[in-house]
Amino acid sequence: MLIKKAIFPVAGLGTRFLPATKAQPKEMLPVVDKPLIQYAVEEAYAAGIREMIFVTGRHKRPIEDHFDMTVELELALEQSGKQELLDVVRSVKPDDMECIYVRQAQALGLGHAVLCGQRLVGNEPFAVLLADDLMVGEPPVMAQMVEQFRHWRASILAVQEVPPEHTRRYGIVAGTPVDERLMDVTRIVEKPSPETAPSRLGVAGRYILTPGVFHEIASQPRGVGGEIQLTDGIASLLRREKVFAYRYEGRRFDCGSKEGFLQANVELALAHPQLGPEFRSWLGTLNL
Ligand code: UTP
Repeated sequence: MLIKKAIFPVAGLGTRFLPATKAQPKEMLPVVDKPLIQYAVEEAYAAGIREMIFVTGRHKRPIEDHFDMTVELELALEQSGKQELLDVVRSVKPDDMECIYVRQAQALGLGHAVLCGQRLVGNEPFAVLLADDLMVGEPPVMAQMVEQFRHWRASILAVQEVPPEHTRRYGIVAGTPVDERLMDVTRIVEKPSPETAPSRLGVAGRYILTPGVFHEIASQPRGVGGEIQLTDGIASLLRREKVFAYRYEGRRFDCGSKEGFLQANVELALAHPQLGPEFRSWLGTLNL
């Protein structure tokens, strides 16, 4: 496999979701019946990645527990003959998947969180998935990106067009088009104002990065918001290496915001094979 390891930064404070995130990471918030982090891990697994590196903060327990064996629960389900539920529980962590945890002692920014995974990643290309961006795509978005990496052997950033008034929420890229989905990046700026944004292509929470980025992040001063920004590390990397922006096929729900989280719940519930039909007719009774 080309990309074997993924970093999941889950050490943010999640202030936009307080009080829900007071004692648990926002990545454990469920959309329909699965926590956000599980969607992201499944996406990485579907792309062939087997080594999952979680950069955790002060609430590491719920995530560790979620991907651990639950002996009593499994025994109870087995004894009561609930095979389907047992399969659901066991599928959370397939046997060939490894979960590793590393601590980010202080939430100093996304770049700093990625840097915390350096020793575990070593000298090979790796993926970064932000679980609060829930991606729905077929093939899954990270699998599409691995396909691009196979061809270009360079860093790939997932991007999408964003409304001009939202440029302040994203890293924004500019560059030279390679084909209808790919751009050779020449500039990347963190959270620019609409007036200074070099384009309307915003980076979504999926990256494939070459290990050279670690050195670049480590030499960055603090950026926007006093944080060590991944965007600044990438900006520095593209002076040395090619970096591509890939307009993924699929949809993204910004589950770090309440609006995006609610939209994801409604849309995924509607698409759910068992819940969908009844939920749809219930929505119809609301006279919106
Ligand atoms: P956000 O910018 O959404 O920040 O982080 P946040 O603290 O999680 O949430 P708000 O804005 O206060 O509500 C983007 C991603 O980077 C991770 C977060 O967990 C999230 O997945 N992150 C951010 C870290 O792991 N460490 C950090 O120091 C900062």
